[in-house]
Amino acid sequence: MTSHIRYDNKKLFVEDIPAALLAEKYGTPLYVYSSNQIAEQFRILKDTFDIVPNLKFLYALKANSNSELLKLISSLGAGADTVSAGEIFLALRSGFAPDSISFAGVGKTDYDLDFALDRGIGTIIAESDEELRAISERAAAMSKTANVSLRINPDVDARTHPHISTGLKENKFGINIRDAVGSARAAAKMKNIRLVGIHSHIGSQITEVEPFAEAVNSIREFLAKLSRDGIEVSQIDLGGGIGVRYKNALKDRLLPTETSEEPSIDLRTLAKVVKDGLSSSGYEILMEPGRFLTAESGILLTRVLYRKESSGRTFVIVDAGMNDMMRHALYSAYHQVVPVELGEKAFELVDIVGPVCESTDVFAAQREISRVDRGDLLAIMTVGAYGYSLASNYNSRLKPAEILVDKDYSRIVRDRENLEDLV
Ligand code: LLP
Repeated sequence: MTSHIRYDNKKLFVEDIPAALLAEKYGTPLYVYSSNQIAEQFRILKDTFDIVPNLKFLYALKANSNSELLKLISSLGAGADTVSAGEIFLALRSGFAPDSISFAGVGKTDYDLDFALDRGIGTIIAESDEELRAISERAAAMSKTANVSLRINPDVDARTHPHISTGLKENKFGINIRDAVGSARAAAKMKNIRLVGIHSHIGSQITEVEPFAEAVNSIREFLAKLSRDGIEVSQIDLGGGIGVRYKNALKDRLLPTETSEEPSIDLRTLAKVVKDGLSSSGYEILMEPGRFLTAESGILLTRVLYRKESSGRTFVIVDAGMNDMMRHALYSAYHQVVPVELGEKAFELVDIVGPVCESTDVFAAQREISRVDRGDLLAIMTVGAYGYSLASNYNSRLKPAEILVDKDYSRIVRDRENLEDLV
């Protein structure tokens, strides 16, 4: 795999531009994305899943919904997986065709449903019996027939962080697979609903094929049951969840090696599981990758504000905070943190923390890193997914700018907020 974020002559580059130059030009904290990395990730998926006939990728906007990134991803040929009227709006604005958009979410409002129906969105994914009735009612009021896919909860353990696991029966998502035949039967009878598919999403940052294989099996058994009831669908949506590696995103003799048992999902085996399990009956197969397409394309550049020694610990206080990047605060997520310029300085054990008034405002706890001082630049790696999209104004901090790089060209794809934006 080609990495477009790398060191050259001890300097960190995003494509052909030194990261230090970007920090100088646009200020910090700063999200920087590599457009060619996104294209590369999409190519990997397309090439690997080429063996599965009739498969389409719908990009999960929640991972990163910057409209310029969306334009790029739609131009690559992906559809869109959305969960709100806002995401549908952004997808349409960014070039996704209405019929290439699916609309999921466990609590769609009438406004959301009307918006989706009015815009002719491809498929609405229903997550409860009550919602099925609501979709049918809203469609009837607009004299439309909605294409609906039923989200089943296959009761599969995705073996990922509990906060991002969704396919267990105790999770709020989907219709329990045991009750779902009844729901499908009801849906098939509703006048303003066309039941087109089955949807399942078991979780995120999944690094093993097995949970997907279990979901595929459950779906197959479920489809057979439906068939016995005389209900046929044409579309199977396997959701998102393909994991990425967060450790050792960058390797160099001047960086500490990150010890890692982090498994890396075997995409070829996954493609084979999907092909062998589902493709024989001519279904259209959908997958909804979010993280896989954007995570590795993004870094967060931040400047060291201060060093502080306290009770034997060294704190490196940086100008990015948990409001800019929540993943450590929310899931204790690991992100590699590297110097923008490599040096021969000794490694030391530090806590890399932000300025926000919360003890969870941490990017890396007890992390080995070569010594950095006030004014030095650091890059927090692998933040292209669920980085900016989870950012907030907590502590009335201004959200950072976002920059998109294509070879030697960089441009602002979202302005840094200013004080007036807070009012
Ligand atoms: N489809 C559905 C129905 C989803 O709920 C999700 C993610 C995706 C697709 C995309 O999943 P992905 O391919 O990105 O794993 N904020 C968390 C992740 C939350 C994922 C929510 N749903 C994090 O930072 O790890």
